[in-house]
Amino acid sequence: MSHSAAFDILPSAKEQYQSKHLLQLNRDLSRVAKQKPFIKASYYDSPVGLPSLRLQIKDRYRSRGLIINEDDLCITAGCQHALFLSLFTVCKPGDNVAVESPGFYGVIQLLEQLQLNIIEIPAFPVTGLDLGALESALDKWKISAVVVTPSFSTPTGALMSVANRKALVAIANDHDFAVIEDDIYGELVFDSSANSDNHPPLKAFDSQDRVILCSSFSKSLSRDLRIGWVAGGRWHKDIIRLKLTSQLASSRVQQEAIAEFMLNGHFKRHIASFTSTLLDQRNQLLAAILQYWPNSVKYTLPQGGLALWVEFSENIDTTKLYAKALEKTSPSHLDNYFHALVIIKTV
Ligand SMILES: Cc1ncc(COP(=O)(O)O)c(C=O)c1O
Repeated sequence: MSHSAAFDILPSAKEQYQSKHLLQLNRDLSRVAKQKPFIKASYYDSPVGLPSLRLQIKDRYRSRGLIINEDDLCITAGCQHALFLSLFTVCKPGDNVAVESPGFYGVIQLLEQLQLNIIEIPAFPVTGLDLGALESALDKWKISAVVVTPSFSTPTGALMSVANRKALVAIANDHDFAVIEDDIYGELVFDSSANSDNHPPLKAFDSQDRVILCSSFSKSLSRDLRIGWVAGGRWHKDIIRLKLTSQLASSRVQQEAIAEFMLNGHFKRHIASFTSTLLDQRNQLLAAILQYWPNSVKYTLPQGGLALWVEFSENIDTTKLYAKALEKTSPSHLDNYFHALVIIKTV
């Protein structure tokens, strides 16, 4: 993670995805920065963040089948910060936290930092968290929280079914633990069969306010904005307090510009064009796998997100393969998000 793991290839890519909507976002940012700069420089925003931005985020969730209000949301410095605020609030050192395995390395490091015990629950490359394995773990240990990415998890790109989403929330109700939902890829649906109408966030099935929803604009718009959010459910007040003590406030310029960008329909249009590019890239990558790699290679067909999962036969040392691939890679080959994010694993 010291140099951002799988992303070590990406910065050298010459041809990055160009979006006219992102250029518009830059214009919005500079226009908003020029308006009343001295007033902005003299005040902190409130810790929960700008109402106009929270309203736009709420509207996006409503279009994805989650009824939420702007007061349920608190703006954060990205999704990693939202995960930190949630874990720090819900757990105390020594608590057990279950995560998907394989899963997002950033969560593992966060858990270590917070001195929480990590319980790895196997996850299937296509359908995500193995709920049977989670129930077996619950028979043995008291678990305070489960961190899960139901839509297009890192690194497999798995999509959890609606039935499993409901079942996970029911298990959490029975065993009284918090579910920390990482929804960072939730907007990046490119296959209509995975339409978010059919796969609302886990929080849509939460009748006991125990699902904490975390996300950001890092994967949908820009990693450089450092703007995310958390809907903390029954822990929301404590999370806002921790946001105040850990960050005071978020930048008003950033928030105002993104809110305007969304209000004017640019976010929606950007997502439509970005996801169609991602679909093209997935198909190109699949075509390349079929053409150049042996038949024994197994691969998934992701319906959204940025990751495609590949499994090689056991005689292939994927650590060596990865190093070799890096050596042979020239920046001109790397104009594809998916190329940069293929995760290699030996079965
Ligand atoms: C699953 C997942 N969650 C969270 C993050 C961190 O997001 P942010 O850049 O918004 O802090 C990442 C970044 O790679 C991620 O893949």
